[in-house]
Amino acid sequence: MTVNSQFDMTGRQAIVTGGCGLLGVTFAEALLEAGATVHLIDIDEQALTTHSAQLAQTFGDRIQTHICDITDEDTVKRCIAVIAQNGAIDALINSAAVDPKFEPGENGEYRDTGRFSTYGVENWRRSLEVNLTGTFLMTRETSRIMEDQDDGKGRGSIVCISSTYGLTGPDQRIYENTDSPERFFKPVDYSTTKAGVLGFVRAVAAYYRETGIRVNALTPGGAYNGHDSAFTEAYSSRTILGRMAAPDEYKGSIVFLCSDAASYMTGANLIVDGGWTAL
Ligand SMILES: NC(=O)c1ccc[n+]([C@@H]2O[C@H](COP(=O)([O-])OP(=O)(O)OC[C@H]3O[C@@H](n4cnc5c(N)ncnc54)[C@H](O)[C@@H]3O)[C@@H](O)[C@H]2O)c1
Repeated sequence: MTVNSQFDMTGRQAIVTGGCGLLGVTFAEALLEAGATVHLIDIDEQALTTHSAQLAQTFGDRIQTHICDITDEDTVKRCIAVIAQNGAIDALINSAAVDPKFEPGENGEYRDTGRFSTYGVENWRRSLEVNLTGTFLMTRETSRIMEDQDDGKGRGSIVCISSTYGLTGPDQRIYENTDSPERFFKPVDYSTTKAGVLGFVRAVAAYYRETGIRVNALTPGGAYNGHDSAFTEAYSSRTILGRMAAPDEYKGSIVFLCSDAASYMTGANLIVDGGWTAL
């Protein structure tokens, strides 16, 4: 195969959960640009309408949307059954997550400061539910379809999105220097669930040994999203490249992992973090 044909996803069908997120939408865009039909799944109905309208202008009916809470087993089952009616499912990207952001609201206050000693168990439980149980449900329902593909030999690519904070503890110093009246801490549930995603990837990849179902993780570093200059500088200084990522710098990685270009890759973690975890 030529390198172009290895990356070509024409005629393939892909699912992106959390498809309305900052990175989720660029993952969808990348797969559309590579030729795939993309099913955007999100819990946020309004954002789904907005993003699908924008993407449809370029990609027409190759973009489909599904309102789905990935933590609800029956809803996930129905959603995957509807998608499977359109044909084979070639790729699943588990991108939906609870990711407490360092982005204060209008009053400069955070919804939750992330302080460990007062951290709400409901926040902890919600993160585990979305980031791990939702990933489990989506993967289980999709893999059942993938198992039957290629005459029962199994075929498909599953990509779970982790984070640098799944590999290292959050560097709480980068959240210190801020104009906000409150001190923000990146909460512990984020690192815990993102580390869990990496274990999940290895376990499911190992389960599908000697099949055509590949399971990998993508570990992105922080993407710039209008953060204040103090945070941007503090974050950037922790990377080798000296900057945050632009969201579209993950497009090539997601197409690589979903396509035949990564046909000999499973149980792996692709780290694209500007060198954050190398230091
Ligand atoms: N943005 C970054 O800088 C960054 C860095 C490292 C890792 N990541 C990881 O990359 C992935 C994508 O990040 P992002 O920036 O797009 O996140 P985001 O917070 O912008 O978007 C998350 C999306 O998930 C959806 N969602 C939340 N709960 C859901 C549920 N129960 N069912 C369905 N959808 C639900 C939200 O509505 C939202 O659209 C996440 O897993 C995140 O942890 C992001």
